[in-house]
Amino acid sequence: MLKKLIRKNDKAISIYLNERVENAQKEQLPDHIAIIMDGNGRWAKKRALPRVAGHHEGMQTVRKITRFANEVGIKTLTLYAFSTENWKRPKIEVEFLMRLPEEFLNSYLPELMEQNIQVRMMGNIELLPEHTKKAVTKAMEQTAENNGLILNFALNYGSRDEIVQAVKKIALDIQEGNMEINDITENNINSYLMTKDLSEPDLLIRTSGEVRLSNFMLWQLAYTEFWFTDTLWPDFDQECLIEAIETFQKRNRRYGGIKEEETN
Ligand code: IPE
Ligand code: IPE
Ligand code: MG
Repeated sequence: MLKKLIRKNDKAISIYLNERVENAQKEQLPDHIAIIMDGNGRWAKKRALPRVAGHHEGMQTVRKITRFANEVGIKTLTLYAFSTENWKRPKIEVEFLMRLPEEFLNSYLPELMEQNIQVRMMGNIELLPEHTKKAVTKAMEQTAENNGLILNFALNYGSRDEIVQAVKKIALDIQEGNMEINDITENNINSYLMTKDLSEPDLLIRTSGEVRLSNFMLWQLAYTEFWFTDTLWPDFDQECLIEAIETFQKRNRRYGGIKEEETN
């Protein structure tokens, strides 16, 4: 692992960072990390660049963090890339954002294959432009047999939309006699969500200093640990991720109960 992480072309990963990775690996790692990648626009504005330059730079961070998360041993990485509300943005920005998955996947698909990464997508796929759908579908098909990190893009995703779709499907199944009202349980609801094949996120990260969920995984985050940073997404790096993981490892997850040592 040590050798693997020290890449000739990636000097940012220092020996010091490797030590932190190795220490983190001795403890329970979060299986599933979800990230609200925010702050691309502000990153660009600070440099007097157009907002889309921030999105482009943010794509490099996606590449870097995906590779690193896989090497650390994270099982699932869910990245919030476009929300159901992001259509409100200027047409030119939306068009650029809809080209990004294509650009990312065309450039990095061989690399993702090499790293054994499986690409998935959740969100309202039907409403995506044809070219975006095509690129993502191709990547999902090509990487379907990979069993390393699951890289799950939330694209045109909204948690409320997801819940509405789930409720409609449940209602239809009841109407058609496939199930009864008493069959509705938490597990059953899980099976109607876009995350039905995934574990719940253990750790949620949001960059850029915003402290809100912006319609992201409202059901699934019920017992997730949250970590917020002021760092803008294009500046987010391996050290930020390891810091988030270290903080996670210090948390006491109680799930409403108490620890044995607290029972007296
Ligand atoms: C996050 O960066 C990317 C998307 C929402 C697509 P923003 O574009 O929201 O950046 P800020 O929040 O304006 O800085
Ligand atoms: C959330 O960021 C969506 C993504 C990161 C894709 P936004 O920038 O759209 O969220 P708000 O508008 O600040 O809540
Ligand atoms: Mg934002």
